[in-house]
Amino acid sequence: MIQLYHVYKRYPNGIEALSDVNLRIGEGEFVFLTGASGAGKTTLVKILLAYERPTSGQVLVSGRNLGVLRASSVPFLRRNIGVVWQDFKLLNSRTVFDNVAISLEILGLRPKEIARRVSQILDVVGLEKYVQARPLQLSGGEQQRVAIARALVNEPAILLADEPTGNLDPDLSVEIMNLLLDLQQKGTTVMVATHDRFLLERYKKRTLLLNRGFLVEDTSGLETSFNAASLLDDDEEERKR
Ligand SMILES: Nc1ncnc2c1ncn2[C@@H]1O[C@H](COP(=O)(O)OP(=O)(O)OP(=O)(O)O)[C@@H](O)[C@H]1O
Ligand SMILES: [Mg+2]
Repeated sequence: MIQLYHVYKRYPNGIEALSDVNLRIGEGEFVFLTGASGAGKTTLVKILLAYERPTSGQVLVSGRNLGVLRASSVPFLRRNIGVVWQDFKLLNSRTVFDNVAISLEILGLRPKEIARRVSQILDVVGLEKYVQARPLQLSGGEQQRVAIARALVNEPAILLADEPTGNLDPDLSVEIMNLLLDLQQKGTTVMVATHDRFLLERYKKRTLLLNRGFLVEDTSGLETSFNAASLLDDDEEERKR
């Protein structure tokens, strides 16, 4: 479903965000992608969606070789991948309804069907009251849930969530995680980028650990990772400074 072979990503400023990353994520798997701030998590998410191209190496997503993907095929790739961006990327001039409905409108669904699906998913994330609100009238956690609803509404085969619980209190984080795990149970491949140790320790799922662009661990999640703990601690220290 997702495969990377010797993937490197060097940005124009010379920063090497990914170095020789090799990994394989099977259909229907749930994986955490972790690592300190700047380790390359968001870069990897962007590469999987063809928002960034690797400098070298190969990336396969749902049978598509992204290295040779034509620009005209990119929308088909993205149609099958739901994404929750770290900074949400909501349209602030549009209502919550419009933000969530957009992918269904692009697919050409009928307005009645769109309304049904949008209200169903807003119900799931607990935002049914806010259908007509604008994103900036909502709290950070509520905006995050709009972003999650938008990613899920067209039932994508793959869900990439970049710090999906970053702005949520622990109870809501657990609810969102349960939602993501439910999705996986139904067959969706889910990748959650996070440096939230609470999530990693609570759910014990396969965990990919990036350190300065290198994939330094790939564990089943059952064994507590000495490396992950120390790297994530560094990160917290850095943020306090
Ligand atoms: N568009 C860009 N141009 C240049 N450098 C970039 C760009 N995007 C990211 N970087 C750099 O690449 C490295 C990896 O960044 P990335 O955003 O992938 O990290 P991250 O693991 O998602 O971090 P965080 O936990 O803070 O979100 C960092 O050193 C960052 O400064
Ligand atoms: Mg990031």
